[in-house]
Amino acid sequence: MHTVVETDVLIVGSGPAGASAALALSTYGVRNMVVTRYASLADTPRAHITNQRTMEVLRDLGVEEDVVAQATPQHLMGNTTFCTSLAGEELGRVRSWGNDPLVQAAHELASPTRMCDMPQHLMEPVLVNAAIARGTDFRFSTVYKSFVQDEGGVTVTVEDRLRGDEYRIRAKYLIGADGGRSKVAEDAGLPMGGQMGVAGSINIVFDADLSKYTAHRPSTLYWVLAPGATVGGIGAGLVRNVRPWNEWLIVWGYDVTAGAPDLTEEYALSVVRQLVGDDEIPVTIKSSSAWTVNEMYAETYANGRVFCAGDAVHRHPPSNGLGSNTSIQDSYNLAWKLKLVLDGVASPKLLDTYDAERAPVGKQIVTRANKSIGETAPIFEALDGLSPQTPEQLWANIAARKDATEAAEKQRAALREAIAFKVYEFNAHGVDLNQRYPAESSAAVVPDGTPDPGFTRDPELHHQPTSRPGAKLPHAWITSGTRTLSTLDTVGKGRFTLLTGIGGDAWVRAAAAQPLDIATVVIGPGQEYEDPYGDWANLREISDAGALLVRPDGYVAFRHADTAEDAEGVLTDALRRILGHG
Ligand code: FDA
Repeated sequence: MHTVVETDVLIVGSGPAGASAALALSTYGVRNMVVTRYASLADTPRAHITNQRTMEVLRDLGVEEDVVAQATPQHLMGNTTFCTSLAGEELGRVRSWGNDPLVQAAHELASPTRMCDMPQHLMEPVLVNAAIARGTDFRFSTVYKSFVQDEGGVTVTVEDRLRGDEYRIRAKYLIGADGGRSKVAEDAGLPMGGQMGVAGSINIVFDADLSKYTAHRPSTLYWVLAPGATVGGIGAGLVRNVRPWNEWLIVWGYDVTAGAPDLTEEYALSVVRQLVGDDEIPVTIKSSSAWTVNEMYAETYANGRVFCAGDAVHRHPPSNGLGSNTSIQDSYNLAWKLKLVLDGVASPKLLDTYDAERAPVGKQIVTRANKSIGETAPIFEALDGLSPQTPEQLWANIAARKDATEAAEKQRAALREAIAFKVYEFNAHGVDLNQRYPAESSAAVVPDGTPDPGFTRDPELHHQPTSRPGAKLPHAWITSGTRTLSTLDTVGKGRFTLLTGIGGDAWVRAAAAQPLDIATVVIGPGQEYEDPYGDWANLREISDAGALLVRPDGYVAFRHADTAEDAEGVLTDALRRILGHG
């Protein structure tokens, strides 16, 4: 085993976490290599809901349009339906994924991007193609075996599955983006909390023209309450749209203590028939696979020069659609830090903030996703359908809601309420956008001395923009000449950005005096950028002459409410802390 290949960052895995890490690093000009076990990218749809924060990340990385071109648009995602089968009775709907008029307004106000449904087998090629085009050295059929790290780097042994031999790769840093059974996380000894294998689930991918049952209530998700639907799984049977309206994925549970059923075509077809409820429709089964619902998160994401991202450090069910979103956001958080450390601009201490910022997010989303499964139970309870019973009893209970009795009226109300409560899974705008990195836990954020006012509304449901250090820069539409752009479009691209207004000249000079490249954005009448609607002035929470220093990942690192006598000294001190030199 003599061959030693060199790179700066070695990434294990080409799923959403690994592919986006490669894309971000290549975009920033960091030499990187991806090794991935199989000879192809994901061949099944897997994760799909792509939230606004992820779309902002993809916008900054220059692939938003490629994703939008292939994704199912937001307006076809929104009628989450509860039914007895697609052809059967409908029990109710939730306007989801930003399709409720009020939530839609909140989405439009929060971000220049729109949510969409981008199945993983379409997302991965977009990320990987762009990464390779920008310089990523990509190796299929290459399996990570082990690593050894020392003061100067990490030596990784991999197996080339084509040649059947092993070789070594020497990297300065290693990213383990090798999914829910991460060997990198295991070898790095990352402590994990929670448990694997909470429930059993089966994915069945199939082609069928179901437009007859879906086109009039377009949705990404159709939930089926039927006999057996509470066994294992993710709360109920699920018919998920992959491509409108002829490619589908069913999620159906099994008793994890009894083991997965034999996934024959006959079995898969029987599940499809039960959930679709129309035997006349031709169905082609494409694949079936068994997986388990997990509730596990790593307490720490790094060990020395080894960092893990994505399912390697947070394992949870698909509820709320957080899987690939969180994975992409992990990598986006890590990539700019690696870039600045590799360039010698930041101390390696900056890398400690990856763990400090992302591990709490991982724990939060694992908890949220699992809680959402439990929140489906009240729908069954409203139908008296949780306790063991015959199918006939369940159908009778469901039919009883149509009676003209006091009990049936109560049942209808309980059902409406239970279905409406599912907004915490299907319209949780705050879960998507309120991730904060408080200065108390992250050294890459400088406290500004103001007390945290907290959230004024439910932080899971409602996004609350703020320019507080540790929050994502608020989005506002501004102009530059004839161009309309988002404040988010002025930041990113791997650089820090300083935003100020009229009277903020001292901050602009202070930014220019720093040893690293800081973009400056002056917003005000007659400046390069203008705020014709006054939206930015309403959101920025600083005066015209104040300043916000925004990290390459769009998070506010430092803010100053007004002008400062010694702006250069103040900004230099802030950057020293942020870059780990403090
Ligand atoms: P991901 O698992 O996507 O990628 C891991 C990568 O590491 C792969 O490229 C793999 O080949 C590679 N790898 C692993 N071990 C390796 C080794 N030793 N050497 C080299 N390479 C290695 N989510 C959701 O929201 N809705 C859904 O319906 C589903 N369905 C679903 C089905 C199936 C079958 C799976 C496996 C997963 C889902 N998910 C899902 C989960 C979702 O796919 C998941 O959250 C994201 O893919 C996580 O992205 P990662 O990049 O972290 O891991």
